[in-house]
Amino acid sequence: MEPGTDRSATVEPRDPMPDGYRRTLVRQIAQHAHSEIIGMQPEGEWIACAPSLRRKAILMAKVQDEAGHGLYLYAAAETLGTSRDDLLEALHTGRQKYSSIFNYPTLTWADVGAIGWLVDGAAIVNQVPLCRCSYGPYARAMVRICKEESFHQRQGFEILHTLSHGTPEQHAMAQDAVDRFWWPSLMMFGPPDADSPNTGQSMAWGIKRFTNDELRQRFVDIAVPQAEALGLTLPDPELRWDEERGHWHFGTPDFSELAEVVAGRGPLNAQRLAHRIRAHEDGAWVREAAAAHAAKRAARTPG
Ligand code: 3HC
Repeated sequence: MEPGTDRSATVEPRDPMPDGYRRTLVRQIAQHAHSEIIGMQPEGEWIACAPSLRRKAILMAKVQDEAGHGLYLYAAAETLGTSRDDLLEALHTGRQKYSSIFNYPTLTWADVGAIGWLVDGAAIVNQVPLCRCSYGPYARAMVRICKEESFHQRQGFEILHTLSHGTPEQHAMAQDAVDRFWWPSLMMFGPPDADSPNTGQSMAWGIKRFTNDELRQRFVDIAVPQAEALGLTLPDPELRWDEERGHWHFGTPDFSELAEVVAGRGPLNAQRLAHRIRAHEDGAWVREAAAAHAAKRAARTPG
C-alpha cells in the first residue's frame, strides 16, 4: 500500500516502501538531525558567558538535549539503510543541509532567549505534526523530542520576560534580539508552498501533515499573543488580526534571503560548517578507541 494512504498506518523499517519515499525520509530526517547538531553552536557559545549559574545550568541542559535529538534522528535515519558516516560526510561536504536559522549570529544574551522562544517555538509547531508522520521510527523519535522542545521554548520565553521587564537597557536588548530573529524564524518553515518542490509528495506520503505556509501561519498565530505577554513588539508593520480568516495577517518573509542562506551564503554558514568539521576531526580518537574496544570484546566473546 502506498504510504500515507491510510493515515493511521505507519511504515516500519522492514516494510516494503517506494524508493522515493525512502529517499525523501533519509533527506528530511538527516537534515533534521544535522540541524540539531549545528544548532548546538549558537547557544553553546553563550554557556561560558551565561549571567548566572542557574542560567548556565539550564543552557547546558538545553544544548545537551539538542545533541541527543541529533543522535536520536541519525538513528532513525539509519533504519532506512544509510550510515552515520555517509550522513556526516553529506553534511560536511554540503550535499545535505541544515536549518537556515543556525547561520545567524548570537550577539547578546537576549539572543539565547529569542532562540528558545522563537526558534524552538517554531520547531515545536513544525515537529508536533511529525509525531504522526507515516514513518514509525521518525514519528516515535518526535514524541520525546517535542517534550524536550517545550522546556526549551519555556526557558527562552522566561529569559526574554525577565529582560523585557528589567532595566531599559535589558528591555532594549530583548527587543533587538526579537527584531533580528523574527523573520529568520518564519523562514524555518521553508519556501512558500508554491515554491516547495517536496511538499506535495511529502503530504501525499504522510511525511508532512501540513504545508509550509500552514505551519508558518500557525506559528505566527501562537507567537503574536506571546509577544504581547512579553511586552515586546514584532518587526512586521503589516501584522494585524484578520477577523474574517481568524488568523493574524503578516508580511512576506524575504524568501530570496532564505534561498541565499540555504545556498550557503548566509552570515555564518562557513563558520558553522568549519566548526562542525573541526569537532568531528577532533573526536576521531574517541571513535577509534570505541571501535578498538568493541573489536577486543568481540574477539573475547566465544563463537
Ligand atoms: N533551512 C534549510 N533548508 C531549507 C529550509 C530551511 N529553513 N527550508 C527549506 N529548505 C530546503 C529543503 O531542505 C529543500 O532542499 P532539499 O530538497 O535539498 O532537501 C528545499 O529547501 C525546498 O524546500 P521544501 O519545502 O520543498 O522542502 P521540505 O518539504 O523538506 O520542507 C522543511 C522543508 C519544512 C524544513 C522540512 O524538511 C521539515 O519539516 N523538516 C523537519 C523539521 C526540521 O528539519 N526542522 C529544522 C529545524 S530543527 C530545530 O530547529 C532544532 C530545534 O531544537 C531548535
